[in-house]
Amino acid sequence: MGVDRPQPAVSDALFEHIVGLRRRMHRFPERSWEEHRTAGLVRDALADLGIRTRAVAGTGLVADLPGPDGVPVVALRADMDALPVQEETGLPYASDRPGLMHACGHDGHTSALVGAAALLTRESALPAPVRLVFQPAEEIGEGAAALIAAGVLDGVAFVFAGHVDVGFPTGTIVVADGTVNASTDEFTIEIRGPGGHAARPHESIDPIVVASHVVSSLQTVVSRRVPPDRGAVITIGRFHAGTAVNILASSAVLEGTLRARDAETRALLRAAVREVATATAAAHGAAATVTLHDGTPPVVNHPAATTLARAAAVHVVGVEHVVRTPLANMGGEDFGFYGEHAPGAFVRFGARRFGTAPAPAHSGRFEFDEQALAVAAAFLHRVALGAGHALRTGTASDFTRAPEA
Ligand code: NI
Repeated sequence: MGVDRPQPAVSDALFEHIVGLRRRMHRFPERSWEEHRTAGLVRDALADLGIRTRAVAGTGLVADLPGPDGVPVVALRADMDALPVQEETGLPYASDRPGLMHACGHDGHTSALVGAAALLTRESALPAPVRLVFQPAEEIGEGAAALIAAGVLDGVAFVFAGHVDVGFPTGTIVVADGTVNASTDEFTIEIRGPGGHAARPHESIDPIVVASHVVSSLQTVVSRRVPPDRGAVITIGRFHAGTAVNILASSAVLEGTLRARDAETRALLRAAVREVATATAAAHGAAATVTLHDGTPPVVNHPAATTLARAAAVHVVGVEHVVRTPLANMGGEDFGFYGEHAPGAFVRFGARRFGTAPAPAHSGRFEFDEQALAVAAAFLHRVALGAGHALRTGTASDFTRAPEA
């Protein structure tokens, strides 16, 4: 198989526990901000380990594992929400809820973090306090910001999380430097014309023609304005206009998404959409109203956190199974908000079973190799110890920056 699967330090009993928990969550997927039952399963599983939890920002859940006084906190984060997708896997533990599915593996992340908690409770003493963060509403990009506002990063020196990824074989961990997920902003452009008779276009301004020029002109932003070594995407996903063939529409509405790998490019895209839409519309005698909807920032792995994550990954799967090549994932991930407040690293857990060609995340056929959950639990356990050790011995202090105001 090219990659012989290492055996992570998770017992069969714990692995079965994690998988059982994951399948229970999988059967009952919950939408963003509705993760009541999922959070309840986590609360009960942690209570069985003697860990007390507190509810944060609605359906969020936080637990603090104590460490030595005066040592800052290492935070580990998992996301809990599912997607409005009809499951088509036919798995015995497939979703019981029509139109809802854990199609991104968040059930796996949550149960792996419970597994890490079990491993951490077996340590006689932790080198630093560990905060377990079970986050709601990742899929809609809202949960992280809400939890940060509620104080989950107070006193936190490092924050770590990961995502299952069927693009990589089970037993690998991807630890990339720098940006690992793009920013996500959305925009709406409305172009108005007076409307009129389709046979007499000179009496009106045709917003469909104007909007078509806007669509075309926006294609030049990435190809002509963004430096070629930067990643950027502008996609218009919706184009709505018109009611009948013999009517000139009175408005056309374009909606799209902007993806960038750094803050500078993100700002460039936002400004360019505004400028191109309004100027192109003006060139055709129309007016455009541009609304930008703030999304999530890029996920940028902090150098110190990345070093600690890589060391933990090497410990868990061996150096030959740690993937170092940078990931140009233009998908979003609201972990980027944590990175704005504390040094963080976001890794990916290979979850493709040998010999399979898995369906992509967010599809109704999405499925991942549950063996990846053992790797994920072992990694989260190890990175908490490694980062905690660095904090306790002061070796991380050079890298740790103060939270931004
Ligand atoms: Ni996800």
